[in-house]
Amino acid sequence: MNITIVGTGYVGLVSGTCLADLGHSVHCVDINEEKVTLMKNGQVPIYEPQLEEVFLRNIKGGRLFFTTDLSEAMRVSNVIFLALPTPPGEDGSADLSYVLEVAGQIGDLMTEYTLIVNKSTVPVGTSEKVYNLIKSKTQIPFDVVSNPEFLREGYAVEDFMNPERVIVGASSQKAFEIMDKIYLSLTNAGAKMIKMDEKSSELTKYASNSFLATKITFMNEIANYCEKVGADVDKVRLGMGSDQRIGNRFLFPGVGYGGSCFPKDVKALIKSGKEVGYTFEILESVEEVNQRQKTILVPEVEKYLGNLKNKQIAIWGLAFKENTDDIREASSLEIIEMLLNKGAKIRAYDSIAVKNVKKILGNKIEYAINMYECIEGADALIIVTEWGEFRNPHFDILEKKMNNKAIFDGRNLYNLDELQIHGFYYKSIGRKLING
Ligand code: UDX
Repeated sequence: MNITIVGTGYVGLVSGTCLADLGHSVHCVDINEEKVTLMKNGQVPIYEPQLEEVFLRNIKGGRLFFTTDLSEAMRVSNVIFLALPTPPGEDGSADLSYVLEVAGQIGDLMTEYTLIVNKSTVPVGTSEKVYNLIKSKTQIPFDVVSNPEFLREGYAVEDFMNPERVIVGASSQKAFEIMDKIYLSLTNAGAKMIKMDEKSSELTKYASNSFLATKITFMNEIANYCEKVGADVDKVRLGMGSDQRIGNRFLFPGVGYGGSCFPKDVKALIKSGKEVGYTFEILESVEEVNQRQKTILVPEVEKYLGNLKNKQIAIWGLAFKENTDDIREASSLEIIEMLLNKGAKIRAYDSIAVKNVKKILGNKIEYAINMYECIEGADALIIVTEWGEFRNPHFDILEKKMNNKAIFDGRNLYNLDELQIHGFYYKSIGRKLING
């Protein structure tokens, strides 16, 4: 099939590249000329494992194209995926201006039946808004479908190619048939396609992300309580997770959730609820608890070091999670800000996300070129992101290079007995304090 993708951000680029890899011919449209030129020259503008390989394979295969001209793409395809940003406005509601602007252009340019597929995360009722807008511009038949994405950063290609489910919300048989064709090779391979109306589909996305954010936040509260009563959250997690009704994923406590989806979607669902007179009390608490959790280790460092003025703090990990360069809503930024306000000096290390942090923090902090340079002369080490390289450090190097043998681990990376043997003061989340 011939498919157009409008918006080559994270979702658009991954979806476009993967749809091309399923054998479709895909034209990706973006208004950013510089980015389009870059992609035409075979460069991937974001960091995402596996993406570059699939991207280059499909450019070479003549199935993946880039343009700034929507009309050029629409001349060859009558299925248009919208993968446009829906950033939170001041009040937390999703800003639909990009989606509606492009919907209007599609209405003006359409010359034959067109299927508009919305992949952006949008409030319930957006498909209807898009439908009404296009309807006001044309007599030509068309359908609007909701097809939310569930891609995790760092695993996006894998998630697209092996989805646990494909959600399709539509109200015409023709639209469902086209969607069946688009995803045929995935459903043939066993993926489940769940069909529903547009509003339920739109809400499925918000409900899923808000539920996962709640699950993590619940575990963060259990972890905080474990510390007070001397229980071990790792044991509690294993015990809880083996109940299939609960499941063992997304039960890892830490320094709060971040990223481009959970914080934005929780806020947007709360706001959408308010608009119809409903208060999501659970989600309001989730936001509040998560905010507190992000900086929970700072007072612990203070408890150990006393006044933080001129203390040298090492930070391992800046990305909001491993395998991404994304620092949106990252706990690292909040921790660093709090430490700087207390007069601490910071040297941070993250091999991938560092360039994005430099753009925001400039020379307010130092940047190390590797994890061991980062801890030289450090009075304490805080681990914020669970990158693989931090999982098995040479503790003897840490011992030699650090001023104090003190680790504050926001990701529970280490075995308590091992740290006990190495003689580190080791504070993790929801577990016993070691050598305290
Ligand atoms: C999420 C959803 O998983 C995906 O389906 C959606 O479409 C986009 O949002 P992503 O933001 O890439 O994906 O990351 P995810 O792996 O879900 O992690 C989100 C946050 O939760 C991270 O900050 C992560 O560190 C945190 N997390 C996750 C925990 O603190 N504990 C866990 O057990 C799992």
